[in-house]
Amino acid sequence: MWKGRFQQQTAALLQTYSESISYDWRLWPHDIEGSIAHSAALEKAGLLTGEERKAIVDGLLAIGAEIEKGAFTFRTELEDIHMNIEAELTRRIGDPGAKLHTARSRNDQVALDIRLYLRSECDALDGLLAGLQSALVELGAANAEVIIPGYTHLQRAQPVYFAHHLLAYVEMLQRDRERLADGRKRINVMPLGSGAIAGSTILLDRQLVADLLGFPALTRNSMDAVSDRDFALELLSGLALIAMHLSRLSEDVILWASSEFHFIVLSDAFTTGSSLMPQKKNPDVAELTRGKTGRVYGNLMSLLTLMKGLPMTYNRDMQEDKEAIFDSVDTVKAALGVFAPMLREAKVDQVRCAEAVGDPNLLATDLADYLVNRGLPFRKAHEVIGRAVARCSELGCGLDLLPVSEYKALSPLFEDTVHEILQVRRSMEARKAIGAPAPGNVAAELARWKGLLG
Ligand code: ARG
Repeated sequence: MWKGRFQQQTAALLQTYSESISYDWRLWPHDIEGSIAHSAALEKAGLLTGEERKAIVDGLLAIGAEIEKGAFTFRTELEDIHMNIEAELTRRIGDPGAKLHTARSRNDQVALDIRLYLRSECDALDGLLAGLQSALVELGAANAEVIIPGYTHLQRAQPVYFAHHLLAYVEMLQRDRERLADGRKRINVMPLGSGAIAGSTILLDRQLVADLLGFPALTRNSMDAVSDRDFALELLSGLALIAMHLSRLSEDVILWASSEFHFIVLSDAFTTGSSLMPQKKNPDVAELTRGKTGRVYGNLMSLLTLMKGLPMTYNRDMQEDKEAIFDSVDTVKAALGVFAPMLREAKVDQVRCAEAVGDPNLLATDLADYLVNRGLPFRKAHEVIGRAVARCSELGCGLDLLPVSEYKALSPLFEDTVHEILQVRRSMEARKAIGAPAPGNVAAELARWKGLLG
């Protein structure tokens, strides 16, 4: 492509070192789509005849069809996807192909390709996130009456509906979707026409290209357009947050599927056995998802580090953006894709959930609230109930079996009916504030999400 200035061939060693075709080949649909739009601007500027443009478009589509079939041979010496396609086009159709790169550089071309790629991946990710949200809502709705202990510090804290716990993740995933949608706005800006750095002396209709490719806006500075990858970094950080949420959900699934908790039973189809221990049924989907979070964080850090010291504008370093971007997108898509069906097949062990939530100490705070309702300042009520719990430890019973006389000895505010407080369902009914897990609230949230998710 640059043979004019050079007397020597590129060393084979450098070809191998500098190629990106082994991984950027997958940008081919976007590269072809971008070139087709660019050729329209060239025709409009009078730089291509209608016939020449037709040869280009037909040639590009034919190459695309071959790549899709796996019948196209990529050549390492042509470095990247841009030059592989352009060189083959020119080999096939001659001069019109050689005109395609007019007023264009690989610098604005690759920026365009990445933006097109990321835009479509944002949409795919949004669909997958919605699918996982639906799976969580369905699992919650199918077990709407199930109450489990909620945990802080992984110690039993207060009872919550199982569905309320799942809906917490639905909220997190919704924010993830909003983040992606917001970042998509900054991805969705058309950089072509920026050239290598300073546009071109040949004037093309950038708006036409943007319209053809469905971009609502044009980049406003040619140097910015070829040099920044902040839009990709935003997506990588959005993906890192998704991975973080999935990793926490994984941890819950792993705990819940253990013999110790046994709140859920995963299906055989989404678990694996042990080659040695015949009894084992392992939650590998969740473990792998938790594990893969590391590489998604790593990719974000790679690209941040890659960009931090670069002088304006394009530098070849930036070719290293792609593997990080592809890997994070692929990894998160795969995790979302497998998590949803795994949850759809999961069963809840309602007996074990009921046993766990039968722990009367989960309602210790309700007893403190009881005293508050009778006029005792909360800090004092907290202390009284703390002593009741300590007394229970001495007697080896739960708060539900501590005699009324013991309660009354701790505070005269306790009445004979104090034990009524220690009913889980009653406790849940009382938690009516917006966002709290009263049964009516949880049912309404399940219905709201079902409506939103369709
Ligand atoms: N393969 C290159 C990349 O991904 C395309 C841009 C190359 N530009 C250049 N001036 N060498 O960054």
